[in-house]
Amino acid sequence: MPDKLYALQQAAEKVGVGKYTRHVLLCTGPTCCSNQQGQAAWETLKLQLKERGLTSGEQQCFRSKVGCLRICEDGPTLVVYPDGTWYSGMTAERIPRLVQEHLVEGRPIHEWIFARNPLTHEADQQ
Ligand code: FES
Repeated sequence: MPDKLYALQQAAEKVGVGKYTRHVLLCTGPTCCSNQQGQAAWETLKLQLKERGLTSGEQQCFRSKVGCLRICEDGPTLVVYPDGTWYSGMTAERIPRLVQEHLVEGRPIHEWIFARNPLTHEADQQ
């Protein structure tokens, strides 16, 4: 078990777990959008995070590609934590604005948001 725990800790450290200020989850379909649309959005998200300096430093964002966020329409669906901001229609064309305005400047894009679920500090106590 100690070897397994060590391996897990090494894997987490390798991807920077413990340093992130935000987590962005993007659904790449296939129900809310086509796999092609989802993959294009994912590739753009990866590139934009890197270009805007969000893969390290004080605004470091963790990104995850997921197979479903249980919304299943008008995707690609994207959620940003800890603020719990849910976006619809996050195609590759929209990703650069999302990264700049929400992730760099801290200004969510209200016209693309369909739900909110901020995580509270009470969750840290459990
Ligand atoms: S397939 Fe994207 S939210 Fe379900």
